[in-house]
Amino acid sequence: MTGDLWLRAARPADYDRIIAVVDDWWGRPVRHALPRLFLDHFHDTSIIAERSGGELAGFLVGFCSPAQRDCAYIQFAGVAPGERRSGLARSLYQAFFEIAAKDGRHLVRAVTAPANAASIAFHAAMGFAVTGPVDGYDGPRCAKVLFERRLDQPA
Ligand SMILES: CC(C)(COP(=O)(O)OP(=O)(O)OC[C@H]1O[C@@H](n2cnc3c(N)ncnc32)[C@H](O)[C@@H]1OP(=O)(O)O)[C@@H](O)C(=O)NCCC(=O)NCCS
Repeated sequence: MTGDLWLRAARPADYDRIIAVVDDWWGRPVRHALPRLFLDHFHDTSIIAERSGGELAGFLVGFCSPAQRDCAYIQFAGVAPGERRSGLARSLYQAFFEIAAKDGRHLVRAVTAPANAASIAFHAAMGFAVTGPVDGYDGPRCAKVLFERRLDQPA
């Protein structure tokens, strides 16, 4: 990355820094959707963006699906409000695409809440096909918008 901002592989201990900011960064309570198990078990496919002072600028939590051998999945990605619209989420996604491709994956999937217009616009800009909202996707009264992107398509 440029200047004093860089990306690195996540570590399990990053969980505490991430969970401390997610409700603020999302502007609503979302921490229930990111239990510690994601950093304990998927830190090596997750990515941290930080400033030289150690300040968290963004993160991506994702994994290569154990069951869907063609697919990698992004559970959470966020960028600090003061760092937005500078291409940081794009860089985090591109880094994850490289991790997924190296593991032989051809598809990346994610979902978001229908109210999250920024997430839908971002995924569309990143070349994801957008489906939904799909009613009941995560159970009664819990619709989700689904994203899917082939890794062999141009950026
Ligand atoms: C969604 C989010 C991750 C985008 O991060 P970002 O670093 O600002 O995104 P980028 O700068 O890489 O944007 C790349 C492109 O996506 C699109 N985009 C990003 N944010 C957008 C927004 N709020 N509205 C419309 N388009 C947007 C644009 O096309 C943008 O390119 P441009 O700036 O040249 O126009 C960030 O807004 C965020 O952290 N939101 C809260 C958490 C969240 O909802 N995460 C969703 C994923 S789980």
